[in-house]
Amino acid sequence: MNKISIAVFPVAGMGTRFLPATKANPKEMLPIVDKPLIQYAVEEAVAAGIKELVFVTSSSKRAIEDHFDKNYELECELERKGKGELLAMVRNIVPADVSCVYVRQAEALGLGHAVLCAKSIVGDNPFAVILADDLMDNTNGGCLNQMVKLYEKTGSSLLGVEQVDPSETFKYGIVSSDPLEERTTQVHGIVEKPQPEDAPSTLAVVGRYILSSAIFGHLEHTGRGAGGEIQLTDAIAALLKDESVMTYEFEGRRYDCGSKLGYLQATVEYALQHPGLGDEFGAYLASRAG
Ligand code: UTP
Repeated sequence: MNKISIAVFPVAGMGTRFLPATKANPKEMLPIVDKPLIQYAVEEAVAAGIKELVFVTSSSKRAIEDHFDKNYELECELERKGKGELLAMVRNIVPADVSCVYVRQAEALGLGHAVLCAKSIVGDNPFAVILADDLMDNTNGGCLNQMVKLYEKTGSSLLGVEQVDPSETFKYGIVSSDPLEERTTQVHGIVEKPQPEDAPSTLAVVGRYILSSAIFGHLEHTGRGAGGEIQLTDAIAALLKDESVMTYEFEGRRYDCGSKLGYLQATVEYALQHPGLGDEFGAYLASRAG
């Protein structure tokens, strides 16, 4: 069985829910306290043993390439001023044994299309997909780390899932499945963004996947689905007719940072945990509540 060493980060969406902030800046560069969302996602991937990061970008996402690239001017300046700690921080955003590859999605045709853009780089390998706007805390090594371990035991494609309120099914891919062991189910159906009355369950797919490379063949034949976009969910529905697809209910907490409310919740929680800021910020919140 192949190891999971490649992660695809689709970052070519328009981020319309965060306009005007995302007019010229990628949504994935929005910071939670002092670190951009995409860096949290990369750290989760690295913690799971990923060695190749494939970013599917668009023409307005140059800031992501710059963030993971060397910045000689900044490094020289920090060195000159003797700011060793900051220098080490900007130099080690990506570990030396991890490589970054960028591919362009010329048109935002949907998440499925974005994943298909990574086909020539991923080749025949199983791979992870991480949506950076779903921020996961690092319980038990992080969500992807938990999924990689499960993949090593099962060899099955995996969908990160959580239970959602019935009123929220229209925001997610929703699965129908049979329980297996603790935290896992065997998927036999999946539908993108069903209204509550049509949803087969309340088990919702979040932004973490481990997929067999056979998904690319299905994506090539997937037409436009919900919202007029080429949906990854529709290709997964085709994949599970040929191969095992399981869900994994991850340990830890997810913040939906693609929405303003989730983004603000993550900001508050991460600020409270921040070593240099938490106490003061906590006191400020307490003063507001009182
Ligand atoms: P979303 O629909 O949540 O992101 O796509 P969006 O389109 O950027 O945001 P809104 O809804 O307009 O506010 C889920 C993920 O898929 C990527 C996005 O970047 C995000 O990480 N995506 C989506 C692409 O890379 N390409 C696409 O064509 C669509």
